[in-house]
Amino acid sequence: MNVVLLGPPGAGKGTQAKVLEEKFGLLHVSTGDILRSAVKNGTEIGKKAKSYMTRGELVPDLIVIDLVKERISKDDGKKGFLLDGFPRTERQAEELDKALGEMKRSVDKVLYFKTSPSVSVKRLSGRRVCKVCGANFHLVNMPPKRQGICDYCDGALIQRNDDTEATINNRLRVYESETGPLIGYYKKEGTLEEVNGDLDVKELFQNIRKFFSEKK
Ligand code: AP5
Repeated sequence: MNVVLLGPPGAGKGTQAKVLEEKFGLLHVSTGDILRSAVKNGTEIGKKAKSYMTRGELVPDLIVIDLVKERISKDDGKKGFLLDGFPRTERQAEELDKALGEMKRSVDKVLYFKTSPSVSVKRLSGRRVCKVCGANFHLVNMPPKRQGICDYCDGALIQRNDDTEATINNRLRVYESETGPLIGYYKKEGTLEEVNGDLDVKELFQNIRKFFSEKK
């Protein structure tokens, strides 16, 4: 099953994708994670992407489309994947459809996490991530057991540099103008399912699990 997780920054796409990946055995592909890793490793793609990401703008379509095509064509994506943060423009959606068509596959379901802007802002400003393993926490909603320390690897917890107030506001604006039209795009394709992204982590999972079948 090939699933797109669609929703604004802070909707909880990454958090749910981790649970869904574990429970249903689907490959989690986060373009944000891939790009952050490229920036950290100083690759050519990372160098090109860095300034866009810091400003909360979208990285150019061609860069991201190639990254995703390459990732989903590998063997570990054959059983199905969860695309988190992609597509984000109509061009990306069209290119995804084209690439999947060539692989005799398609997007089976698009889960749209409809989320209030005020909820997004609270989640992003309180988010802390592990500098070492990338695990996600929230100061109030998902606090670590020890303040400032990752539960999984003892790494230091830091704030993402695009989780500042000004950049969060820009990311939400960019989402509305560039990614918002995809709701109509996928409605037309008949694959869109809307879920309430304002729910807490467990309730939200209960609402989306019905769209998946247990891993064998
Ligand atoms: P990306 O990393 O994709 O950022 P995003 O879309 O802004 O998404 P987030 O990771 O901020 O939010 P999320 O919905 O995953 O929420 P999360 O689960 O972490 O992209 C970053 C940048 O990369 C972009 O700005 C762009 O520059 C570039 N980029 C990436 N993809 C691109 C593309 N396709 N095209 C062009 N450029 C691209 O949760 C947030 C917080 O809330 C956490 O602290 C969590 O603990 C908490 N939380 C989660 N769920 C809940 C819940 N249900 N209740 C309470 N708290 C919750």
